[in-house]
Amino acid sequence: MCGIVGYIGNEDARDILLNGLSNLEYRGYDSAGIALQNAGGVHIFKEKGRIAALRSIVDPEIQATQGIGHTRWATHGEPNRRNAHPHQSASGRFTIVHNGVIENYAQLRDQYLGKVSLKSDTDTEVVVQLIEHFVDGGLEVEEALRKTLKLVDGSYGIAMLDAENSDVIYVGKNKSPLLIGIGDGFNVVASDATAMIQQTKRYVELMDEEIVLLSRNGYVIKDLDGNVKNREPYTVSFDARDTEKGAYPHYMLKEIDEQPAVLRRLLQEYKGKTGSIAIDPAITRAISEADRLYIIACGTSYHAGLVGRQLIEQIAQIPTEVHISSEFSYNMPLLSKKPLFIFISQSGETADSRAVLVKVKKLGYPTLTLTNVEGSTLYREADYKMLLFAGPEIAVASTKAYTAQMAVLSFIAVAVAQGKGIKLDFDPVHELSLVAQAMERMIDEKALLKEAACDYLSVTRNAFYIGRGLDYYVCMEAALKLKEISYIQAEGFAGGELKHGTIALIEDGTPVLAFATQENVNNSIRNNVQEVTARGAHTAIISMEGVTAQPGDKIVLPKVHKSFTPLVSAIPLQLIAYYAALQHECDVDKPRNLAKSVTVE
Ligand code: F6R
Repeated sequence: MCGIVGYIGNEDARDILLNGLSNLEYRGYDSAGIALQNAGGVHIFKEKGRIAALRSIVDPEIQATQGIGHTRWATHGEPNRRNAHPHQSASGRFTIVHNGVIENYAQLRDQYLGKVSLKSDTDTEVVVQLIEHFVDGGLEVEEALRKTLKLVDGSYGIAMLDAENSDVIYVGKNKSPLLIGIGDGFNVVASDATAMIQQTKRYVELMDEEIVLLSRNGYVIKDLDGNVKNREPYTVSFDARDTEKGAYPHYMLKEIDEQPAVLRRLLQEYKGKTGSIAIDPAITRAISEADRLYIIACGTSYHAGLVGRQLIEQIAQIPTEVHISSEFSYNMPLLSKKPLFIFISQSGETADSRAVLVKVKKLGYPTLTLTNVEGSTLYREADYKMLLFAGPEIAVASTKAYTAQMAVLSFIAVAVAQGKGIKLDFDPVHELSLVAQAMERMIDEKALLKEAACDYLSVTRNAFYIGRGLDYYVCMEAALKLKEISYIQAEGFAGGELKHGTIALIEDGTPVLAFATQENVNNSIRNNVQEVTARGAHTAIISMEGVTAQPGDKIVLPKVHKSFTPLVSAIPLQLIAYYAALQHECDVDKPRNLAKSVTVE
């Protein structure tokens, strides 16, 4: 949900900012803008649409060694040029970019800015006008910034230029993610480390309600009362190459292909001394002490959570519930006596999940975050953490983080079971190694999966995925992936539930794709396929070699352990969605209306 960057140093800021914004474009791409500051003042360029559109209008003649930039996912105000960031104060002295939502902006505007005529419909402009209002009233800029941020309710990651001071960029953070990047003779600010990875690998985390005075040779972090905070930089574990697309036409395809390698890396990262799976013993202990686990997540991460619940209940025998973060926040169920909360989030920044984390921490319950981003908000704020080691996921549609989440959940299930002395009837490391091989085999079946996408999804406006048990959860993810990147209306349905209403939607030619990897429900799901075939549906079955496969099945997955089939099913569901999106000429990596990191509730 919006991304911001800032640079102060001795190099040409323009390309650094534009490249930084391109790296952040996954966070929103309704409009974009940059402000460049030099001896001639502050020069603003903004445009509706993608960074490429912005790049084409930035004056190449302007030389500047400091500036700020923004890519927008609109919350307040239409996504047009007028509402694009940066925004300026009335006199033009202050220029700001902002990621987040100022909830009380209307109240602040009415209370303090009656005489100022605002130039946009955004909540952000109120912040910059308010800072100028307080400076006009006699405060120093830093004081005005702190006073304004104390008045603000909501989330913000901001960077601000002062036309009268070219030695500093003012930065502020609350709830929205923001990092300071440390360089030699320059410093940067960015919503995440991938944005500025070409510049530096060293970053400093910011906490809520902090400001930073960022200069060419240093940074001073303060709280909103002006107390200085000392914090050391850390080094991120990836480099610029990990964020590049290479020869791939899309990040999504690259990230799908990376999944076997991610699974193998995970098996290495979570390998114990005896060669079995090992996780932090403190986590095993905390989970074993809980009487019920509550998995909290959104979207694809929620779908991974559904699979995880089944694995944890079956393998570790701990009652587990899965909840959608935004529902749980406002509609908390009656909790057990000793709950433990597991947050699953690729980005570690999802506001809906964080809202639950804050709430349950206040209630004193233990929390564990599974995330791909070390140092992210959910990572920092949870008691326990486990990394997904999937590498930067750039495509908006999540793929490799999804399989990594399911794998890490299976590690939890196995480690807790081992800790409780539950004897497993399979070797998890061996079985998961077979999963990596099976994934590779499916990745090699691109031609078949492309053909399936063409046959079933090239002209349709809607589609169904059906399954039972673990396959049902896979179907939910398959439908989400298809919807978000191809815009085909899709539903993932429990096979047995169809005849209770939804079957009314089946007509001649409606595509219905059934996942049938589970032996115990193979006959029932095939009966469901018959029911829809009889009503004209265009059906396909995706089954598993030597387990459920029958002649005539459209796609046959290599055999893996029954608990791990979703990890292999992920490949065809992702590739079918990918090829369907290409058929429909959609922008695979940046689907409309979406942003990767959803930092507003
Ligand atoms: C779908 C997708 C989203 C995310 C969801 C949660 O492809 O990426 O549904 O899974 O927004 O995001 P995280 O996992 O970052 O909390």
